[in-house]
Amino acid sequence: MKTVIYSIEDVEQAGAVIRAGGLVAFPTETVYGLGANALDADAARRIFEAKGRPQDNPLIAHIADFSMLDALCHDIPDVARRIAARFWPGPLTMALPKREIVPDTVTAGLPTVGIRYPSHPVAQALIRAAGVPIAAPSANRSGKPSPTTFAHVLADMDGRIDGIIRGGDAEVGVESTFIEFAEGKVRILRPGYITPEDLAEVVGAENVEIDGAVLKGLSENEHPRSPGMKYRHYAPSAPVVAVLGNNWDCAREIRRGVRGQVGAAAILCDEYADWIPCETLRVGRYGDYAAQAHRLFDALRELDRPDVRMIYAQCPDDRGVGLAVANRLKRAAGFHVIHARQLFVLGLTGSTGAGKGLVSQTLARIGAEIIDCDAVYHEMLRNDPALLANLCLEFPDAFSGGTLDRKALGRLAFQNEKELRRLNDITHPHIRRRITEILDKLEKRGIRFAVLDAPTLFESGADRFCDVTLGVTADPDVRAARIMERDGLDEEYARLRISAGKPDEYFKNQCDYMITNDGAPEALEQAARNIYQKIIYQQEDRKHGTSGIA
Ligand code: TXA
Ligand code: MG
Repeated sequence: MKTVIYSIEDVEQAGAVIRAGGLVAFPTETVYGLGANALDADAARRIFEAKGRPQDNPLIAHIADFSMLDALCHDIPDVARRIAARFWPGPLTMALPKREIVPDTVTAGLPTVGIRYPSHPVAQALIRAAGVPIAAPSANRSGKPSPTTFAHVLADMDGRIDGIIRGGDAEVGVESTFIEFAEGKVRILRPGYITPEDLAEVVGAENVEIDGAVLKGLSENEHPRSPGMKYRHYAPSAPVVAVLGNNWDCAREIRRGVRGQVGAAAILCDEYADWIPCETLRVGRYGDYAAQAHRLFDALRELDRPDVRMIYAQCPDDRGVGLAVANRLKRAAGFHVIHARQLFVLGLTGSTGAGKGLVSQTLARIGAEIIDCDAVYHEMLRNDPALLANLCLEFPDAFSGGTLDRKALGRLAFQNEKELRRLNDITHPHIRRRITEILDKLEKRGIRFAVLDAPTLFESGADRFCDVTLGVTADPDVRAARIMERDGLDEEYARLRISAGKPDEYFKNQCDYMITNDGAPEALEQAARNIYQKIIYQQEDRKHGTSGIA
């Protein structure tokens, strides 16, 4: 099918196409709609086909004057009229008892029909030109984000419909607020630009309800109040994680999440976007919910590409229009929502004998909570049932009488590279799980600064918990002497251990900060204090937007 592109001056022609049973996409203030004659069941059926939309998901009818409301609906409650008087024309849809003249195809068999009176002049002109109410879902292929630009509509609908009216970008950017009336209350089935607070001004806060599915999704067997709630929606092909929290904590959480990940992308507010080490799309200033609503769908579409493998998106709180943005994001994320940590984590690593222990003690004196990953691991080898069960399956010879012989495990694993890798593949996920639990506990206790002390910080993947990483190295001669003294080894063995470990370069390449410890313990302690100051200053600068100016 050839899709005709109409300019906004061509509404008369486009209206005639709709009156004749055709499909024309058109701009509205919320998102582009895919319009057909709302009184024509066959035309409505074509909408479902063009979108690939499930038959049980009803369409909403668009009107362009108040008299059309009474022509389509009966038993309109007084509150509905008061709400209409206040917010129409505008981004609000109401479910009301339908009259016979509205075909069942449009309402998917429901006794109610969603009515919306858009404020967009082109939408209004089109409805008047058609001379009939226009049934119009969002003009996207089913499951995709609603189209907020002409280009989005063209990408989804070219060749599938009769025409598209080429207007500007949708101003609001998220679909209309959808409400129903029940037991004297107004229930919000889909939040939008008209907020619960706005509705409360008309009917009182005690009479406004938000449907549970808006905030936390539908559970397995729950019956949705609105059919559209049960469908996968807005999601790009890559999994999306919605991150909740204040602006700075969200930015740090996202930064940790994407660092070192191939194909990671982020959607976040403007302030810290340039600090995130992956492709980032900015959606406006923090707290500017209207800007975020305006940008969100375009951002989700832009990231719907095969090279994007995971998406972190900053999720606003539920105030005002934030509720609508958060709802779309949570749905795009399949309600995979995480809370950004307030806890700041410094990863501490380094070569054996370099003096990591002293740095860790110094940071503890400054007030850090120390997580000693070696100790955590050894504790897990004693009594972590999940880890022990896995080890018992993979290294049965390291167990005698059901208990683990650590020395035997060491002998087996250190035979060669392959065995060691096999051991690490088992232990590292368990260690990360345990670290997550420990960090969660610290977070709950209100701790703000922790040090993750781990010789294998990067190999174990524990660096992904860290805001910054600090490496400690020292001259091999100095280290050999230290190891000999500390562990009572002869020189040959001490040197062997050093050469078995990672070279300095390894740490220098990966850590954000380095300390070289070739001097006295006092000098190392002073260096640790200095670097701590530097890290904190740089974080504060970044947080308050004064860094990067140089
Ligand atoms: O802003 C908007 O509302 C846009 C523009 C084009 O007006 N339209 C739009 O339509 O978003 P659509 O079909 O994409 O979303 C309508 C939602 C669907 O989730 C549907 O299940 C629900 O409203 N719905 C429609 N009629 C309903 C009814 N009678 N009762 C409950 N939910 C209904
Ligand atoms: Mg839709």
